[in-house]
Amino acid sequence: MSHITQPENVPTASSQTPALFSAKRVRIQHIARAKAEGIPLTMLTAYDALTAPILEAAGVDMLLVGDSLGNVILGHSSTLPVTLEDMERATAAVARSTSRAMIVADLPFGAYEDSVEHAFASATRLMKAGAHAVKLEGGESRAHIIAGLVSAGIPVCAHLGYTPQSENTLGGPRVQGRGDGADALRRDAEAVEKAGAFAVVFEMVPSSIATELTQTLSIATIGIGAGPNTDGQVLVWSDMAGYSDWTPSFVRTFGELGRALHDAASDYVDAVRERSFPGPDNYKND
Ligand code: KIV
Repeated sequence: MSHITQPENVPTASSQTPALFSAKRVRIQHIARAKAEGIPLTMLTAYDALTAPILEAAGVDMLLVGDSLGNVILGHSSTLPVTLEDMERATAAVARSTSRAMIVADLPFGAYEDSVEHAFASATRLMKAGAHAVKLEGGESRAHIIAGLVSAGIPVCAHLGYTPQSENTLGGPRVQGRGDGADALRRDAEAVEKAGAFAVVFEMVPSSIATELTQTLSIATIGIGAGPNTDGQVLVWSDMAGYSDWTPSFVRTFGELGRALHDAASDYVDAVRERSFPGPDNYKND
């Protein structure tokens, strides 16, 4: 029996979900309308068929199959080892288990930077796996890649500020776009908008510049560690749900899932040891 069907007690839509997103499928025109109408956009990462439908049923507009799956799911210490096959498998699982949210899949490190042709070949695999858009890191230097993908019919979300695939040149996770970096961020943001990106993620940038760019750009801005004024917010779902003890300072934990899972597993261990599980309801004698 499959265990990936929607849990029975999960509501099918959040009462907070704006009417705009009661659409059968959230698409790029809904993202543009949300920006125009000032409706905050919600995005969470998702990597599997167990979790994605729960996040969708809670009303999340966009599910990001992020290459953070390298850290969160695969146990790597960075996103650099993540392969296109890793992303393809996770994207397919999220796509198979959801029906309304827009699925945005990350192009992993090494799968797009060198040419439009390479980017197109990689993005095509993610789209065939079920993505509705891809995300890639970088600004001015990647504008021609964004333009190439968009002209081939692939919606692109850009990612600026702290870009984890460049952690070795950026010197690790640190706020970007301060001081002289502000002008570079402005140039990058204008370049990705001009290239045809439908949205841009700003990661770890000062709230003041994220606010300014949200006002000046025509495309939706989605912040993570970028303050309250972007058009939308994104978090790694397990950070949001309090799965582990450590979370970055820009995260608010909205649950204690790690604690709940630990307690459930420890109750199970106790029940097996004291032979109270399985109980009479859990088996048949003949
Ligand atoms: O991979 C990811 O989770 C991301 C978010 C941090 C935006 O790119």
